[in-house]
Amino acid sequence: MISKPSATECYVYITLPGETSAVTAGKFVLGKNARGDALGQFVYRGKYIDDPRAVELDPVQLKLSKRTYETALLGGIFGALRDAGPDYWGRRVIEKHAGKAQLGELDYLMECPDDRAGALGFGLNTEPPGPLRKFNRTIDLEKLQALADAVIKDKLPNDPAAQQVQDLLLLGTSMGGARPKAVVQDDDGLWIAKFSRHDDRWNNTLVEHAMLRLARACGITAAESRIEAIGGKDVLLVKRFDREKTQKGYTRARMVSGLTILRADEAPEMRRNWSYLILVEELRRVTAEPKKDARELFRRICFNALISNIDDHPRNHAIIAKDKDWKLSPAYDLTPSPQISLDHRDIAMDCGDQGRYANAKNILSQHPRFLLEQEEAEKIIADMKQQVAATWYDTVRACGVSDKDADTIRAAFVYPGFSL
Ligand SMILES: Nc1ncnc2c1ncn2[C@@H]1O[C@H](COP(=O)(O)OP(=O)(O)O)[C@@H](O)[C@H]1O
Ligand SMILES: [Mg+2]
Repeated sequence: MISKPSATECYVYITLPGETSAVTAGKFVLGKNARGDALGQFVYRGKYIDDPRAVELDPVQLKLSKRTYETALLGGIFGALRDAGPDYWGRRVIEKHAGKAQLGELDYLMECPDDRAGALGFGLNTEPPGPLRKFNRTIDLEKLQALADAVIKDKLPNDPAAQQVQDLLLLGTSMGGARPKAVVQDDDGLWIAKFSRHDDRWNNTLVEHAMLRLARACGITAAESRIEAIGGKDVLLVKRFDREKTQKGYTRARMVSGLTILRADEAPEMRRNWSYLILVEELRRVTAEPKKDARELFRRICFNALISNIDDHPRNHAIIAKDKDWKLSPAYDLTPSPQISLDHRDIAMDCGDQGRYANAKNILSQHPRFLLEQEEAEKIIADMKQQVAATWYDTVRACGVSDKDADTIRAAFVYPGFSL
């Protein structure tokens, strides 16, 4: 139970490339400026800066330097730190666990078990704790799905036995996103288990699995996934690309979301920064292979438009760094959304001269930013349109999606307005 006042400062730990335990990178303090607005400050620790193995937390806002960084955005929380914290689903589980609804931003960061996305950790001690060794195993999935159902329906029993089981679900809350999920381990490594919800309109888990496969067939680098059928329900397991199993434990890759790269927020007034065109410019500045990543991003925009994935917001994009260098992460969270309009649909971010319009001409309009010649860009669009139209149905069916569900999502694929 959390009964202490909300934390206002913490140490930030990092697991360095190739290592399996953390060191202290610096200190974060959440205070207020003269006007009373939240102001976050971060300072790298001198000892860390002097360590030849040291790497930056974030290539956009927190480059390695001895200065004191300050931010008034996002309630004073630096994007790279916020990316390591939970969002909707995780916050909900943590609140249940802590027995109260309103926690401070830092409480959410520190209450998370250390299986969060990326290489960072948080705590009150100058030195980091040892690495987490205990993970749920894939055999716990049935129990976890049942718990997730109870959280969604707000029906968690309040007895001590239930508390213990809730602890299980807490492992995995640090991953962002809104769908119920947990982190599980098997002999191959760590996976994010994404559960079904009782109010799903179709079998989301099978469909998401199929979309990752379809994306791969379209030349996109996508996260590896598989399905486990548990107690009559399908659970999607997505292999974590920010963890690698080694003899001595898990190594961790740093991970920064598109939201942080865009210096944006989820608040409506900050959505003018939600743009693939800005994202690609930033990407080209920070990644080791700008041309490769820019072209890959172009493919993802086409794909999202072709499957009507309107949930392609900046937190569903990320860059990762296993060593010093950053690159675009594999694609994840790809969901088709059958819309009613046949001639105009918008994806979540600006992708051309006509804003968010999911349309071939619009996507083509800014091709030089993606380091593509006109003909190359046209060919990518034409080939992918053909590929999605010809194979989406067989792909979803081969992944076990029922004929009825395939019909329900049919309108998502290659809608007429894409080619207007
Ligand atoms: N394969 C993966 N490896 C590492 N981190 C991932 C992976 N897939 C997703 N994530 C991280 O977990 C978060 C939640 O996953 P996501 O699939 O987007 O869930 P949701 O459908 O709830 O939005 C993402 O925003 C991303 O930060
Ligand atoms: Mg998501």
